[in-house]
Amino acid sequence: MKIFITGIAGFLGSHLAKKMIDLGHEVSGNDNLIGGEKTNLNKKISFFETDCNDLDGMSKIIKGNEIVYHCAATAHEGLSVFSPNVITKNIFQASVSTITASIQNKVKRFVYCSSMARYGNQETPFKENMTPKPEDPYGVAKVAGENVLKILADLNGIEWNIAVPHNIIGPNQKYDDPFRNVLSIFINRNLQNKPAIIYGDGNQKRCFSYIDDVIYCLEKLALDKKINKEIINIGPDEEEITINKLVEMVANETGFNGKPIYVADRPKEVKFATCNADKSRRLLNYKTKTSLKEAINKTAEFVKKNGVKEFKYYLPVEIINERTPETWVKKLI
Ligand SMILES: NC(=O)c1ccc[n+]([C@@H]2O[C@H](COP(=O)([O-])OP(=O)(O)OC[C@H]3O[C@@H](n4cnc5c(N)ncnc54)[C@H](O)[C@@H]3O)[C@@H](O)[C@H]2O)c1
Repeated sequence: MKIFITGIAGFLGSHLAKKMIDLGHEVSGNDNLIGGEKTNLNKKISFFETDCNDLDGMSKIIKGNEIVYHCAATAHEGLSVFSPNVITKNIFQASVSTITASIQNKVKRFVYCSSMARYGNQETPFKENMTPKPEDPYGVAKVAGENVLKILADLNGIEWNIAVPHNIIGPNQKYDDPFRNVLSIFINRNLQNKPAIIYGDGNQKRCFSYIDDVIYCLEKLALDKKINKEIINIGPDEEEITINKLVEMVANETGFNGKPIYVADRPKEVKFATCNADKSRRLLNYKTKTSLKEAINKTAEFVKKNGVKEFKYYLPVEIINERTPETWVKKLI
């Protein structure tokens, strides 16, 4: 099959590309490289450095593909409260143009990467049948994109599925981004002999999953004919962990001895964010195979192999006031 992946130089996009190539599919994709890395690009893909917001450009490069997998995003939930313009442009508007270009080209199926930010501050674990109640511009833009997809895909007879990934970790994840990817930030800092910086008291709870454990689920959303018009959480619900405990595990892995630094809470950060995995176990055969300890080890090995990096403040902070984290305003990470 001919499969087109947006955000193909990013973390999930690059792993999906590899998976689809290994399965024998013909893969092409785009990325504007705002956050993606050229080193993530698989040699066997056709790559286009096109912005998803460029409708005409997207329409040309999507032509001839049967499946579009939309991974491109500035997936910065915390930053979206302070940089709503850049974040929503690359989530909502970029999704609308990618969906439009896909409809123009009569693709068979569109898979949309949403986020657990769609659930907001509801009781955990989040279930797919909960009414979305996003709490920040990132989540609002993700849900708006979901809604546009459902309306336009149903109207034009295109199959669709919505993946709701949460806290997936592993190699190829950007680790010099000061705004996002908590585990990779901790590893990159510890390996530079710098302490982890924790927002709030560190008792926030999350549930991480290793990329190899979820890639099969992501693949099925594109290829399984029986799975259509489904919204499915992608990730585990077994090993919940506080950020404090994560910091401890990363320090054990990297051999860092110092204490973490605590700074003020990030406004709008959801304290407990974990998803129920029953639907992905039932429909996608999801199974956790990699422990968090192993996942941290493999991610740290990737950072070591590629070398630690200075953090790059590559996105603008659009609203600067007393609520904006100092870590970003003063570039402390
Ligand atoms: N990794 C996770 O745990 C996780 C969790 C929740 C949701 N998601 C969603 O999954 C998708 C992939 O996430 P990821 O972790 O791989 O992120 P990522 O940042 O590694 O990859 C996203 C890619 O999109 C590209 N991009 C951004 N805006 C673009 C635009 N306008 N045009 C073209 N390319 C653009 C970036 O350069 C980057 O390479 C995103 O939609 C994200 O919101 C991921």
